[in-house]
Amino acid sequence: MKMLQNNAERAKRHLFVAQQTYYEQPLTLVDGEGSHVRDNEGNEYLDGFAGICTNTLGYGDTEVAQAVADQAKTLIHTSTLYLNEPMLDLAEKIAEIAPEGMTKSFFSNSGSEANEMATLIARTSKKSVDLLALDHAYHGRTAYTVALAGQSQWRNFATQMPHVAFVPNPYCYRCPLGMTYPSCEIACAKYAKRVIESQTDGAPAAMIAETISGVGGIITPPPEYFKVLQETLAPFGTLLIADEVQAGWGRMGDGFFGMVSTYDVVPDIITSAKGLASGFPIGITITRPELADTFKGPHINTFGGNPVASRAASVTLDVIEKRDLIANCKRQGEALMAGMRDLGKKYEIIGEVRGKGLMIGVELVHDRATKRVAPDLATKMLEEMRKRKVLIGKGGRYGNVLRIQPPFIFNDNDSRDFLKAFGEALAAL
Ligand SMILES: Cc1ncc(COP(=O)(O)O)c(C=O)c1O
Repeated sequence: MKMLQNNAERAKRHLFVAQQTYYEQPLTLVDGEGSHVRDNEGNEYLDGFAGICTNTLGYGDTEVAQAVADQAKTLIHTSTLYLNEPMLDLAEKIAEIAPEGMTKSFFSNSGSEANEMATLIARTSKKSVDLLALDHAYHGRTAYTVALAGQSQWRNFATQMPHVAFVPNPYCYRCPLGMTYPSCEIACAKYAKRVIESQTDGAPAAMIAETISGVGGIITPPPEYFKVLQETLAPFGTLLIADEVQAGWGRMGDGFFGMVSTYDVVPDIITSAKGLASGFPIGITITRPELADTFKGPHINTFGGNPVASRAASVTLDVIEKRDLIANCKRQGEALMAGMRDLGKKYEIIGEVRGKGLMIGVELVHDRATKRVAPDLATKMLEEMRKRKVLIGKGGRYGNVLRIQPPFIFNDNDSRDFLKAFGEALAAL
């Protein structure tokens, strides 16, 4: 117990300084139930961030816990040199729910690895090293995925790999082209043509795009965006990679894959991680056989297709279907956004409330007319929400966007409690 109280000191002594935590006084989480999580001082929090939108089924889900315990008793690990049943079961399940023809999966441990594999497949099959990414993008923390980041604070390695060209993000609140939707006719997507023609070999392997830019501040493209983008890329033979590390599995409230269900666009490759196994480390790259099989290997991922993580993922997907949690994401997301938009009528610091399902962003500004960013207020909101026993996240190029990405099991009471705390925290500011 004595040690627990000194966790900030322990971390300082023994963890890398780069591993920065939220809050002036870091929070140590010990256990939880449903949408609530407890710290080491016994405080209970309503979790509006789910460990960076990862605890899909919240805390202590009995079905996941049972499946994990059963699996751990018999076979914890195999490596990709051997097959195991849970990995094959999961691959079959994914092939069932993925868009038609996307029947092959590669399993890894994280979103970064999933994106590494996606870009590797694209580069191999298209025989080009050039890639496109979006301004404000975030795709992970390996050297290659850092090179795909469209935010300078996340491009903080001493070396960057070349061959990535950036396309303006469909950030309508701060349109990079100074235009207005819908009269812009999605000029930002069409701009990809200009980028391809001026900054690549003329036929870049792929464009990677988050369906909603999460770390970038829940930037939510307009409905026709991905259609226009795909049409723009097609003449160049450039593949579209949907990074659904945050947005996948129903969080956006329409179907398992947001780009497919919400935007009606089938990308060439889908990547995901985070919520797939309700918190167990897992990464996945999904594509069509003709693309998947262009890379002959050999390739190893020691923990990829881990039987325990694979079981956790299969059970998570079953529970999402059984409890109709995708519809719940939609319902709770609409209730939360409506409540926050109402608060926006009273509090001028709310510049915009945006998102889809339980991917919600609230952009804070000092002044609505100039949209001057308010990262200081975002930091304070996190602390004020903590005081009211609610956890939220933040992001955005300027650190001024609150991120609300709770577990899929958020219920009516949770949303009501959340909005109450949110209103009080705004008042306190
Ligand atoms: C959209 C997106 N892609 C990739 C990643 C990287 O995932 P990981 O941290 O599991 O490597 C993240 C992590 O936040 C992400 O948000």
